[in-house]
Parts: sequence; C-alpha cells; structure tokens
Amino acid sequence: MSDIQRNILITGGAGFIGSHLVRRFVKRYPHYIINNLDNLTYAGNLENLRDIETASNYRFIKGDITDAAFINQLFEKHRFDAVIHLAAESHVDRSIVSPMDFIFTNIVGTVNLLNAAKTLWQPGKTEHATSEINHLFYQVSTDEVYGSLDHGGYFTETTPYDPRSPYSASKASADHLVRAYGHTYGLPVVVSNCSNNYGAYQFPEKLIPLAINNIRSNKAVPIYGKGENIRDWLWVEDHVAAIDLVFHNGKRGDTYNIGGFNERTNIDLIMQLCSIMDEKLGRPAGSSAKLLTYVKDRAGHDLRYAIDSSRITNELGWKPSLTFEEGLAKTVDWYLANEEWLQHVTSGDYQHYYEQQYHKR
Ligand code: NAD
Ligand code: TYD
Repeated sequence: MSDIQRNILITGGAGFIGSHLVRRFVKRYPHYIINNLDNLTYAGNLENLRDIETASNYRFIKGDITDAAFINQLFEKHRFDAVIHLAAESHVDRSIVSPMDFIFTNIVGTVNLLNAAKTLWQPGKTEHATSEINHLFYQVSTDEVYGSLDHGGYFTETTPYDPRSPYSASKASADHLVRAYGHTYGLPVVVSNCSNNYGAYQFPEKLIPLAINNIRSNKAVPIYGKGENIRDWLWVEDHVAAIDLVFHNGKRGDTYNIGGFNERTNIDLIMQLCSIMDEKLGRPAGSSAKLLTYVKDRAGHDLRYAIDSSRITNELGWKPSLTFEEGLAKTVDWYLANEEWLQHVTSGDYQHYYEQQYHKR
C-alpha cells in the first residue's frame, strides 16, 4: 500500500455508497486527507458516518455542487489533488417526477467540479496542487446509462449509451462531459459504471431497504408491474473496494464496468427476502410474502440490466467477496440491528444531525 500523502475530495459522502467509500478511505489510508462534500439533501445522512466523524484525516464540508462560485473557491482553498464524484440525485422514481433536480445536480454539478479541477490542475498552476501525477477526476456512474437489455447479453465497456429515464440520461450526460474534458483539455479522468447496489445505510426508498422496512413494520411491499424486471445486484462494500482499485490502479481515460453477475427478477429477490425476514423475525413461513402488493408499473421501466465485469477482474484483480445470499442476509441483519438509524430516517430526525453535531463544535 502506498504511503503518498493525498488530499482527496469525495462528493456525496453522506449518501449510501459515498459513506461506505469515505469510511473505507479514512480507515485504510490514514495518510490521506478525506474531504467529504455533501449538500445533505434528503438522501444525505451524517449518521452514516458517526464512527469516523472525529478521525483526524476526515473533514466534512456542507455545500452544493450546483453552486459554481462556491465550488471554485473550495478548490482554491483546499487544493484537492483528486476528486471521486458520487454526489447525485439517484432515484429513478424521483427523476420521473422532478427531472430538473437531476439536470442541475447530475449534469451542471458535474461540470462545475470539472471546471474547478481543470482550473486548479492546469499546467503552470502546480503550486496550487500536489504532484500532477496524483491528479484524477473519478466519475462514479451507473450501468443504467447503457439502457435496457432483453433476456440475452451483457453491458460491456463498449456498449453504446442508450439511457431511458431522466436519471440515467442525466448520468449519461455527465459521463460524456467527464470524458469530453479528458479528451479536450487533457484532464485525467476515469469512469466506472456499476450495477444496483444494496447493503447497510441505503435510504429506504430503494427496493431492498424499502422492502425490509415495510416487512418489519407489516406494511405492503409494492411490486411494480409483474415483478419480472431484472436487476444485477452488488453488495455495496464490494463496489467501494472496486472504486478503491480503479482509483489507485485504473488506467487514466478508461472505463470499468462493475457488477456481481447476480441477476434476479424483482419478484424472485423479494420472495427470497421474505423468507429471510420470516426466519429472522421468527414469523411463520409465508407471512412476509402476504405483504406483496402488485402496483402500477414504473413509467418507462427498463426490463433488464446485466453487467459484464470481466475487465476489472482480469485487469485489476477485483472480484466480489460475498455471494448474493450472504450479502442479503448480512443486509437484513444490519437493518434489524440498527433500528435507531431506520427510525431516524423514517421520522426525519436524521436531518437535524448536522446542526446537533457540527454547530456545537
Ligand atoms: P444517494 O442518493 O444515497 O446519495 C447521494 C448523495 O449526494 C447524498 O448524500 C446527497 O446529499 C448528495 N447530494 C445530492 N445533491 C447534491 C448537491 N447538489 N451537492 C452536494 N451533494 C449532493 O446515492 P447513492 O446510491 O449512494 O449513489 C452514489 C453515486 O453512485 C451516484 O452518483 C449514483 O449515480 C451512483 N451509483 C449508484 C448505484 C446504486 O445502486 N445506488 C449504482 C451505480 C452507481
Ligand atoms: P430501485 O431500487 O429503485 O433501483 P433502480 O430503479 O435504479 O434499478 O428499483 C429496483 C427495481 O425494483 C426496479 O426494477 C424497480 C423495482 N421496484 C419495485 O418493484 N417496487 C418498489 O417499491 C421500488 C422502489 C422498486
């Protein structure tokens, strides 16, 4: 492991994947300064980072990536030498209702960060940054940019983009801009596109935590359409391990697909979850499944996502550490053991944590 000092900006670090990444980097790389920039939207929760918030190599910065002046000042002040960009509006259903939020955060916000990095890292301004060799703008993206598959085939790094929801279109647009800044201005960039994540600290609007939370409290679990849509699931800690590898060893200018070869129809996944929940909650077999409720399908619902992640495995040696069964059981255990976290999220109390913890200092 390298002991080079680095000053890294992680955006969206109070969110689901971002908080796992921040935790991993703060613990694993004590010689790096980890700056977590997050605007604390409904999806940002500083309670996700309670265990590392006082670490000496961690700094939280509350701020909005859509505010160009603020972002430029921030880069001038802190002189980051690398950016790992996760801040985004991330929920497809919300993008159908409010696409503009996705345009501003996911596209305009990304361009603001690209411009600030380009200005800071331009040749002749190196006194503002550490060694040029460390400069990297890492765009964390999704497999949804590739569109929807029928029942055969996989997304590879060369699959043409064909986004079909406002969310995936905004991420695709941001990915194109990242690559365009790499090509046009020579900005050192890398992009990874990952499949659906699940695990601890995921906001309970996404399928798996929503279903766990609803089953726990005996509420209906909505299944869109016939439940036949297929997603490819990856445990979040395996995703952040992949990001770590790509960040340190990925080829500049390249793209890496990340996925666990874990395709499931939504209905199969939820049925599996129901039997785990029955067992863990000590309820009679079949009780959770009674909560499944078929509802109107999502508009434009993509049928199938499936990632071919052989490149990152062959070139960087990454592979998932858990099977889907293991990851799902671990995830259920985490939600059942962290009632307080779930209760704060569902009541909205988590939104006061920043004032309570940071303003008293
Ligand atoms: P999330 O919604 O849990 O977290 C997003 C974070 O970004 C939140 O903390 C939020 O407060 C912050 N944020 C939003 N708007 C902001 C703004 N204008 N300024 C500053 N911060 C802002 O998302 P996630 O599921 O953790 O996803 C993180 C990234 O990974 C996203 O870019 C997403 O597209 C990508 N991704 C997610 C998945 C998945 O399955 N969740 C899969 C592949 C890729
Ligand atoms: P989601 O977790 O929103 O992730 P994404 O849309 O980014 O893949 O949804 C996963 C799948 O589950 C998707 O096919 C939509 C479906 N779904 C339901 O059937 N019911 C729900 O309540 C939710 C949130 C999603």
